[in-house]
Amino acid sequence: MSQILVTGGLGYIGSHTVVELINAGYEPIVIDNLSESPIEVKGRIEKITGKELIFRQVELCNQAEIDAVFEEFPSIQGTIHFAAFLLVNESVHEPLKYYYNNLVSTINLLESMAAHGKRSIVFSSSCTVYGTPENPHVDENAPVQPAESPYGNTKKMGEEILRDFAATGKMDVMSLRYFNPIGAHPTSNIGEFQDGEPHHLVPYITETAIGKRKELRVFGSDYDTRDGSCIRDYIHVIDIAKAHILAVQHLVDGKTKGFDVINLGSGNGSTVLEMINAFERATGIAIPYSLAPRREGDVPAVYANIGKAKEVLNWTPEKSLEDMLRDAWNFEQSLPQE
Ligand code: WQD
Repeated sequence: MSQILVTGGLGYIGSHTVVELINAGYEPIVIDNLSESPIEVKGRIEKITGKELIFRQVELCNQAEIDAVFEEFPSIQGTIHFAAFLLVNESVHEPLKYYYNNLVSTINLLESMAAHGKRSIVFSSSCTVYGTPENPHVDENAPVQPAESPYGNTKKMGEEILRDFAATGKMDVMSLRYFNPIGAHPTSNIGEFQDGEPHHLVPYITETAIGKRKELRVFGSDYDTRDGSCIRDYIHVIDIAKAHILAVQHLVDGKTKGFDVINLGSGNGSTVLEMINAFERATGIAIPYSLAPRREGDVPAVYANIGKAKEVLNWTPEKSLEDMLRDAWNFEQSLPQE
């Protein structure tokens, strides 16, 4: 079986990608430093797939630990690199923690891959690189803008590091720019685990629906959009996961040389108020909410042009907004409630 290294493989998108890799007949080699995800996610993945997972606890900021993985698993064909700190507002307060972790881990990984003759890497990037776009319906040619946060800057700089290293001819890179991944595995064994008060919209909606939160605050109702609230492109995490498999195989097959970027979204924009209504339609649960001031750093409107994903990877999203919200709600209900 084709072995694929997955860094941050116990995280939200990483764990769903690991499940889809196994479903597609690959053997993932999962590494994670457990700083953001509990080891119990390993057992949850095994429960879904019925297979034992190859896992090693690895600190990517320690070069020797990555080298040891490539020495233990010489047949690794490609790498999917998820591992990163990813909280926008935490990055504003602790920028050096973000620059050190997210950039040094990427540089170490690239050096180790090149030293062991590996040349295919899929990078987890983000639509945040587009900043506030001129045209909210962005394709991959939209200009990369100055980052709105140190987190967003580490994604932008990560792409630049990968682009420059690819230019040496030693690496082939596919950088996948996620829009807003939401939802969970239909078994509810894995999903977007929260550590304290949710930052993101959909986990906040599901925690409000289950009664953990009193109400949802809608951050901003005076934007220049159809109903005044922000527009985003919400995409099921399983659709995102499947795109990673297509991307890593595309690289292993030598179909992309050098560096390329691809948007991963549904291609549709939804406002915050539309998401509240969509949740109610999907679950029958009305969400109490209030209109609150804008949240600093929010982009008024951004959603993906996904024509390139179709053309290059033959990928199109399969799950509907209703699937996303229902899976997110089922996951919330599966969690122990205080
Ligand atoms: C969505 C919309 C909020 C919470 C983030 C990261 C981005 C990417 C996706 C990694 C916004 C509004 C939210 C709430 C609200 N992650 N909202 N009340 O900020 O679009 O993107 O996740 O790749 O890098 O920045 O996602 O879910 O936080 O917000 O009104 O309680 O929901 O203002 O308009 P965001 P989000």
